[in-house]
Amino acid sequence: NDRSQSLLSPERIVNIAHRGASAHAPEHTLVSYEYAQKMGADYLEIDLHMSADGELVAIHDQSLERTTNHQQLVSEMELKEIKELDAGSWFNQKNPSIAKESFDHLEVPTLTEVIEHFGNEANYYIEIKAPKLYPEMIDKLLEVLSAHNLLGKDRREGSIIIQSFSAEALQKVHNQDPSIPLIQLMKQPPKDLNTVKQYAVGVGINYKSLDLKSITELREAELLVHAYTVNHPEKMRQLLEWGVTGIFTDYPDVLAGILE
Ligand code: G3P
Ligand code: CA
Repeated sequence: NDRSQSLLSPERIVNIAHRGASAHAPEHTLVSYEYAQKMGADYLEIDLHMSADGELVAIHDQSLERTTNHQQLVSEMELKEIKELDAGSWFNQKNPSIAKESFDHLEVPTLTEVIEHFGNEANYYIEIKAPKLYPEMIDKLLEVLSAHNLLGKDRREGSIIIQSFSAEALQKVHNQDPSIPLIQLMKQPPKDLNTVKQYAVGVGINYKSLDLKSITELREAELLVHAYTVNHPEKMRQLLEWGVTGIFTDYPDVLAGILE
């Protein structure tokens, strides 16, 4: 792995910390992202939903139920209320062997808090989740990124990537700012590579549907190929041998060890 290359170079393999180092700490908390950085991840992977008062928060599910002590939808609660929730205790209950008292009562972070905490030296791999539910999400996302100098000519190459399963959402971002690197998420490799190439620098694909042939075709089309979500070292090694250019993992420490 040539770490002197840009994060967007096909010669560079990127280590994407899926929801932070989410095997080791409660997903989508500042602590989970801190672990990810310390473990050698290149990217902090951040899923986004929107509060009732229009703030972007880092959380995977539309509902708060799985990862907090509350059952409503993110979209039904104001940010102030979401910030009062406990986004860490569930992890301790689920993983008693690696539970830590310090995980109790961690907060759901906003995108702004994450960016302000980790600054412009970190790299952010941001997912637009459920864009149909949140018509204002894209504008708000671009506004937050712009306010933190993460858009425009001066940003470091690859310091942000925007990903989505929604081609429509990505095309909308592309139309507003064609310089933002976009990754089209999909469960399987696309049949029509040309359409994806019109707006995206690459694809993020479920590793279970990737093989040497599909990865080779995508690489020949000059698309980056990021496989999600890979937690077993043997599988990581195989995908790297087949030519993927990045891996989403809950274990950025394991991937970093392989990439050394
Ligand atoms: O964003 C890539 C991968 O994270 C997609 O799956 O459900 O974990 O967001 P999910
Ligand atoms: Ca994701």
